Amino acid sequence: MDNTIEKKKVIFSGIKPSGELTLGNYLGAIKNWVTLQNEYECYFCIADLHAITVKQEPKDLRKRTLDLLSIYIACGINPKENTLFIQSHVPAHSEASWLLTCSTYMGELSRMTQYKDKSQKSGDSISAGLFNYPVLMAADILLYNSDLVPVGIDQRQHLELARDIANRFNNTYSDTFVIPEGYTPKEGAKIMDLQNPSKKMSKSEENPNCYILIMDKPEVIRKKISRAVTDSIGVVNYTDEQPGVKNLINIICAIKGVSPEEVVESFIGKGYADFKSEVATIIVNELSPVQEKINELLGDKKQLEEIYKEGAAKASYTANKTLRKMQKKIGLIPR
Ligand code: AMP
Ligand code: TRP
Repeated sequence: MDNTIEKKKVIFSGIKPSGELTLGNYLGAIKNWVTLQNEYECYFCIADLHAITVKQEPKDLRKRTLDLLSIYIACGINPKENTLFIQSHVPAHSEASWLLTCSTYMGELSRMTQYKDKSQKSGDSISAGLFNYPVLMAADILLYNSDLVPVGIDQRQHLELARDIANRFNNTYSDTFVIPEGYTPKEGAKIMDLQNPSKKMSKSEENPNCYILIMDKPEVIRKKISRAVTDSIGVVNYTDEQPGVKNLINIICAIKGVSPEEVVESFIGKGYADFKSEVATIIVNELSPVQEKINELLGDKKQLEEIYKEGAAKASYTANKTLRKMQKKIGLIPR
């Protein structure tokens, strides 16, 4: 046997199928997964159990779950080399989540900013699932002994909590979990709202001019970019005084893998009209082939089914091994 072959490190990440995906999801999450997939053993899940922490229409949830699987593949994630699966197909996630809930404090969960934001919007009907959301996310990550978790900045706090829970479990019951690290790329880390560049781009915004969807048609993308808020300075610069322009530069950087300085240099002497038209072209060129592939995949449900079934089988194998270890250490009697 060749002992010189090092075991690949493990990556885990996921997106919830709770709405249509934006350019923010694409640049902040999926595009980075594509770059990392060759170097790591990767698990990418469709977090349907996370989606139901807020109310979902069953038929929309079903559709979006398959849409999201085809988006993963169309964006370039290879389903043969990586494990792509639907979270609810691996029951170990729900069970591990309960076990970890018992190692998590109310105070920790109350401090999560996403919970505070979302519960404010939900009025009186805040589900306990929304409160426990980060524990399920910790279960996702810890079941696979993940080394690295690529997420946007908004998920960093949840990842920190997953690390705290893992450390606590390890200290209470002896070494069980790998302590995962976060991975957040610089330029794609936070794509901002096109109308209000102090907020992150989000599909939950009412005005569609605030965001670009992965499935937006070229003419829609052009219109949204031409309406994006800039400033009265009129020069393409990368500074915090020009947050709208900075955001558009970040979008170019994240798509093309260039530095902000290179972008600024290429627009010396040019106005915002030229700049925006170029930004729109870059986005259209990036998304058009992806959209074509998504439509092709959605036309072949059988192939999608094979992929998620195989993914669930592979994921279950690893997840169940860790779950059994957890149960045993806690003192639950093995079946
Ligand atoms: P969500 O849409 O909240 O399920 O997020 C899925 C993934 O996309 C997470 O890793 C987020 O951090 C990332 N993400 C969502 N919105 C943005 C954004 N505007 N900029 C960068 N990353 C984002
Ligand atoms: N909670 C994440 C989000 O809203 C999605 C997610 C679920 C996730 N499980 C995960 C991300 C595990 C990273 C690792 O974006």
